[in-house]
Amino acid sequence: MFCALGYASLVERLTDKLGRPVRDLRISVTDRCNFRCVYCMPKEVFGRDYPFLPRAELLTFEEIERVAGAFAGLGVEKIRITGGEPLVRRDLETLVAMLAGIDGLDLTLTTNGALLAGKAQALKDAGLRRVTVSLDSLDDEVFRAMNDVDFPVARVLDGIDAALAAGLEPVKVNVVVKRGLNEDGVLPLARHFRGTGIVLRFIEYMDVGHTNGWRLDDVVPAAEIVAAIDAELPLEPVEKDYRGEVANRWRYQDGSGEIGVISSVTQPFCGDCTRARLSADGQVYTCLFAVKGYDLRALLRGGASDEELTAALAGIWQARTDRYSELRSAETADLPKVEMSYIGG
Ligand SMILES: C[S@@+](CC[C@H](N)C(=O)[O-])C[C@H]1O[C@@H](n2cnc3c(N)ncnc32)[C@H](O)[C@@H]1O
Ligand code: SF4
Repeated sequence: MFCALGYASLVERLTDKLGRPVRDLRISVTDRCNFRCVYCMPKEVFGRDYPFLPRAELLTFEEIERVAGAFAGLGVEKIRITGGEPLVRRDLETLVAMLAGIDGLDLTLTTNGALLAGKAQALKDAGLRRVTVSLDSLDDEVFRAMNDVDFPVARVLDGIDAALAAGLEPVKVNVVVKRGLNEDGVLPLARHFRGTGIVLRFIEYMDVGHTNGWRLDDVVPAAEIVAAIDAELPLEPVEKDYRGEVANRWRYQDGSGEIGVISSVTQPFCGDCTRARLSADGQVYTCLFAVKGYDLRALLRGGASDEELTAALAGIWQARTDRYSELRSAETADLPKVEMSYIGG
């Protein structure tokens, strides 16, 4: 197990070039997925012949644990396991148990929910604290078209129920809203989850990767989503919990719960971004929109010590200047970027 002793002063000082500390780590455990969401892994690109990472190139659970431990030593307090679809990685509970052994971490996971009903209890038993489930519409026809593998809404709802039964709470539900596809489903989702303790989070459709054919016209601005809900179910703003929280929070005035909106396109929050990402093959990215990662796997497999690993991560973070979303413009839209299914959403 990694030992963080001796790094306390480094943690206190460690910020990037824009004064941002490292607090969150997203770990992608696979670039594969059992869905083909049209905004993320369109079938025409991620087809039968798509060159997914071979198994030997994926970090092992032991390697992931070492990187997570080093990040924790540098100030990371929250780890989210993601992908691709994290639940398609075999024995994921084993990794969860290993990461849950790192002191003081808030450990969570984002999933499409397809396999959650069968795994929720094992994940909880392994030490997972809570889950976020992605569900873009309650309309079965719309949802099947959006995941593009004909997967029914009912089975995702079963997964959410299993997560609640296992105590993986609070459960959050992510909804990517794309103009003309599922914007009509925003209010039905709000009505359905209000009063259940489940927190809906509406996400503006982003220009991640280069395969989803993103256009600004396809984005439904967060303000429009809030206005649509507020017109029927009056809302009021809630203060952010902590620096770096990505969602703007709103609560129903009648006390029946809250929602979040993530407006990374219309109101970028780079100035507060405290997040690092580890891809399934061991590249560290300091921005979702980065073009280039840092090859940690080479270090890990080259026999680097924990101290060398920590020093490398500290150096990467200290050099960080990314603020893509604030600079987003007509010019940046065409720049090459890595896919979200690879880097971890
Ligand atoms: C890449 S997925 C990985 C985890 C898991 N497969 C899932 O879908 O929850 C993580 C999150 O990113 C969101 N996402 C994917 N592509 C997106 C895009 N182009 N814009 C905004 N959010 C996106 C998904 O809806 C999901 O909530
Ligand atoms: S959003 Fe999640 S479920 Fe959908 S294709 Fe991307 S990785 Fe898979």
